[in-house]
Amino acid sequence: MARTPLIAGNWKMNVDHVAAVSLVQQLDAALVRDEHDQEAAEVVVLPPFTDLRSVQVLVDGDDLMVRYGAQDVSAHEPGARTGEIAAGFLARLGVRYVTVGHSERRTHHHEDDATVAAKASAALAAGITPIICVGEDLAVRQDRRHVEHVVAQVDGSLDGLSADQVAGSVIAYEPVWAIGTGEVATAADAQEVCSAIRQRVVALHGDDVGERVRVLYGGSVKSSNVAELMEQVDVDGALVGGACLDPEEFARIAGLARS
Ligand code: 13P
Repeated sequence: MARTPLIAGNWKMNVDHVAAVSLVQQLDAALVRDEHDQEAAEVVVLPPFTDLRSVQVLVDGDDLMVRYGAQDVSAHEPGARTGEIAAGFLARLGVRYVTVGHSERRTHHHEDDATVAAKASAALAAGITPIICVGEDLAVRQDRRHVEHVVAQVDGSLDGLSADQVAGSVIAYEPVWAIGTGEVATAADAQEVCSAIRQRVVALHGDDVGERVRVLYGGSVKSSNVAELMEQVDVDGALVGGACLDPEEFARIAGLARS
């Protein structure tokens, strides 16, 4: 069974709700012009929470092809959790995807694998696909412990999810040393770890789940390197940071991911 490529643009803490409207309009216009087929390669933007209502109204009102998600979700039910956003609230806004355990949240907000697994579980319960992020920092890579490190993160971050839930999730390999640095992992580096992730999923839940789960690469992805990354058998798409803030560049990345 072929896996549909996924190109997700993580806006991080950039672009307010006013600017979001024109960014989404420009991206959608570029995709329409390029005759992009969402069934051939799904293109998703991940704006800040405060943008989501504007994006929803725009996408629904003008019947745009761009899909959207969020960058984080609470692991908890609605209630006394000041500042958190429940998965159900995101689902009501038409959110299809949510990143959980991005390295910036693991680093700055001390999120561990158990928290990431709980957030993934909350997203899935609300019908939202989690994009579960894993990846090693430079010290681990220099010690050549990156595969075991990432596999351990996969174990912890998928803990408690059923086979079907894992099959319906996305796992994003983002080496921390390649994020926002311009330092892209080679296609062979990306394949090595994405393959190890898929093998781990096979070991945990069997061949069928391993065949279905989508594994992305993220870290300084651009139109100049995405094609080679996408040629790797275990790379099913990209989680794009900086380059997704330029709608023409992001549309180029999406076009190259299709082939
Ligand atoms: P850059 O593409 O800017 O390196 O960011 C990658 C990333 O963190 C996406 O989630």
